Amino acid sequence: MSYSKNIIEVSNLSTRYGDITIHENISFCVKEFEIFAILGGSGSGKSTLLRNMLYLQKPYTGEIKFFGIGIWELAESKRKVILDRCSIMFQFGALFSSMSVLDNVGMPLAQKGKFSKLEVEKLALFWIDKVGLPKDSAYKFPHELSGGMKKRASLARALITSPKILFLDEPTSGLDPKSADTFDELILHLREITNTTIIMVTHDLDSIKDSVDRFILLENKHIVFCGSLQELKSSGVKTEIFTGLRGQRALGY
Ligand SMILES: Nc1ncnc2c1ncn2[C@@H]1O[C@H](COP(=O)(O)OP(=O)(O)O)[C@@H](O)[C@H]1O
Ligand SMILES: [Mg+2]
Repeated sequence: MSYSKNIIEVSNLSTRYGDITIHENISFCVKEFEIFAILGGSGSGKSTLLRNMLYLQKPYTGEIKFFGIGIWELAESKRKVILDRCSIMFQFGALFSSMSVLDNVGMPLAQKGKFSKLEVEKLALFWIDKVGLPKDSAYKFPHELSGGMKKRASLARALITSPKILFLDEPTSGLDPKSADTFDELILHLREITNTTIIMVTHDLDSIKDSVDRFILLENKHIVFCGSLQELKSSGVKTEIFTGLRGQRALGY
């Protein structure tokens, strides 16, 4: 697949907590329909960057553009229009424990108030199927699901609004390697059947190596690499993230 249009542009972004700098003047772009990863070790600023992009935390300096529009410069009333086109799957699923999977998945649509209860249920069942959950899981409660199934349900909930941009926070963390690989395949499959640009935050390149088109690597406040896995292999960039066994597997060593 070839990509051309930039859907997100981050320019000269710096973030700080008090006088501690987390990102120093970083810039990168995400192209439409891409599966893009934000990679880095623990504490490298991945979640902070995600919060900057989701209007949850204002950067110290710099610009973040979605669809060509600088989001932090937008009037608050206009932000909703942009946010409505984005979905996020939170790290721990964040499902409501007192609601069935069906109601959890349907909730974002039900909240919009534009669809009948029956339509919401039909769409929820559609997405429950698309993320590979068995039909009967729709009527289960989150505590009856395995970790991997919770992540799938959470993914279905993020997809039901047909987002243009889907953010995934540590989508495979906590899964065993086999489930992580299966989830990786699912992401790839979903990209084929939706028109969504996918951005995932992860500390584990191995678990997403087959689905990701390009990624940035955060280290020491900077982006030390931006590109594809293939490009990384030939770049000679050495980073702690690839020195472990899993990292080496990701690089095919
Ligand atoms: N609200 C906060 N106040 C102060 N420091 C923070 C806050 N949130 C995160 N940090 C610090 O900023 C750094 C980056 O954190 P974070 O973005 O969560 O990294 P990651 O998601 O890559 O693990 C860490 O050193 C963390 O301790
Ligand atoms: Mg984090």
